[in-house]
Amino acid sequence: MNTENIKLEIDSICKKKTDINTALQSICDYLEAELKTYTWVGFYFKNGDKPELKLSKYTGEETDHTIIPFGKGICGQVALSNKNFVVDDVKAQDNYIACNIHVKSEIVIPMFKNGENIGQLDIDSNIVNAFDKQDEEILEYICKKVSELEFDYREF
Ligand code: SME
Repeated sequence: MNTENIKLEIDSICKKKTDINTALQSICDYLEAELKTYTWVGFYFKNGDKPELKLSKYTGEETDHTIIPFGKGICGQVALSNKNFVVDDVKAQDNYIACNIHVKSEIVIPMFKNGENIGQLDIDSNIVNAFDKQDEEILEYICKKVSELEFDYREF
């Protein structure tokens, strides 16, 4: 993984004066195309003041899980823990929501704006152990960059 190139591309997407939805979609498309082990890339954000997540932009197969209550699945757990969650093998997880049968591993990185956990970047892979420290680092960078864009998640 060439982290410097990825950071440059993310910087370039975020610098463009496009709307937030275009930026989010471009990031999903770019990551899915650039990183061969990433099979589904999507952003979830807090659904207004409700204790649930709402799917925003994504690249990959359509999912039924457009709303995820806090505490449910890997995403819902990250909404409460405020911590990265790396799942090497989804089969070993009890509290897991399967989006499709091909997914073997998953990573979820929370996104903070003014200290508040407002959403997350969720990535699935069709191979086990797809994510390491380098993935975590680059995805944290992306979440930070996105959080610095001008938007209000309550308007999604
Ligand atoms: N697997 C996630 C649900 C979202 S899908 O991967 C798109 C979870 O357990 O929270």
